[in-house]
Amino acid sequence: MRVLTVVGARPQFIKAAVVSQALQGAGISEEIVHTGQHYDANMSAVFFEELDIPAPSHNLKVGSGSHATQTGAMMVGLESFMSSREGPDWVLVYGDTNSTIAAAIVASKMGLPVAHVEAGLRSFNLRMPEEVNRIVTDRLSTMLFCPTQTAVEHLAKEGMWNGVHMSGDVMLDATRTYSLRAADRNPLKSITSLDKDSFYLGTIHRAQNTDNPARLAAIIKAFSNLDAPIILPLHPRTRSKLDLSAIGSRVQIIEPVSYLSMLTLITSSIKVLTDSGGLQKEAIWLGKPCVTLRDETEWTETLSRGWNHTTGADTDAILSAVGTSPEGEAPRFGEAPAGSASSEIVRLLSG
Ligand code: UD1
Repeated sequence: MRVLTVVGARPQFIKAAVVSQALQGAGISEEIVHTGQHYDANMSAVFFEELDIPAPSHNLKVGSGSHATQTGAMMVGLESFMSSREGPDWVLVYGDTNSTIAAAIVASKMGLPVAHVEAGLRSFNLRMPEEVNRIVTDRLSTMLFCPTQTAVEHLAKEGMWNGVHMSGDVMLDATRTYSLRAADRNPLKSITSLDKDSFYLGTIHRAQNTDNPARLAAIIKAFSNLDAPIILPLHPRTRSKLDLSAIGSRVQIIEPVSYLSMLTLITSSIKVLTDSGGLQKEAIWLGKPCVTLRDETEWTETLSRGWNHTTGADTDAILSAVGTSPEGEAPRFGEAPAGSASSEIVRLLSG
């Protein structure tokens, strides 16, 4: 069996790392194509090095652009690449980025079966580009690997049953695999001079927040009024929208960090404040409460017992949620039916 994996953005490298290892373990040949959506060394190369992901055989070097420019350039590059090769048994795509939808459209029009890891996620907010990417990719996929039963139910409501599998969440595999290494290889003192449990951890990168000055200002105002400093590894999109000189010293801006460093920061923080999808889950799996800087979350399981709160970009709501403690144990979600999600995915692909 031959698998062609298409990745392009930071969270996809993390998900692909654990599935690649499982494919290798099963003796399945995998070729990786990088669209070049993320290209800075600290947004791309560091993940391949640190997570031992096989080097991509091809990088389309698409880079930044509007949605149409970026997705269109990826489609042209992927069509040319796929036409130059014998068709793989599966084209494997991850998540909800422009790289995901570009690969799904090209492969399906070339008659190549698409397998979608992280299928069935819905925010029910069509103004999110990621929601459009999810819906189209799911519709075009032959095999749909859902991280949770909620995701399976979303697909059923849209009339999709064939090829739908509750595989468990590959991000849980990654969190488990790499958090063991993180403390040794990327200790807190290599990232910040702040002590464990003395800071919050924040991230902001969603277009709804970064491209709306009022929302971004309200989030930064909340960050500046926390009862402890907040470390903010800043995505380039957000950096380009902020006047860094106007931000107080309690908000400690650092460059984007590697995955192992991120895991160290999560486990060392008081709480996590984020508009990321993956970080919400990682926080809770690692026992840290989360405040989600969005109006909704796809990961509704995280909201259980007050472990996660959606606050939008409302300064008072953010500060109030930060002051609230969860009740009871952290919710459990994303477990595979047996073994790990990545081994389950490889088993299903091989079937
Ligand atoms: C993308 C995904 C989002 C995912 C996120 C993870 C889409 C629509 N969105 O958002 O679902 O959660 O990746 O980070 O695909 N930039 C750089 N250097 C880089 C990469 C990006 O400077 O290495 C800048 C560029 O100015 C670019 C902007 O960041 O225009 C946004 O990048 P883009 O690839 O459009 O989407 P993300 O915001 O990263």
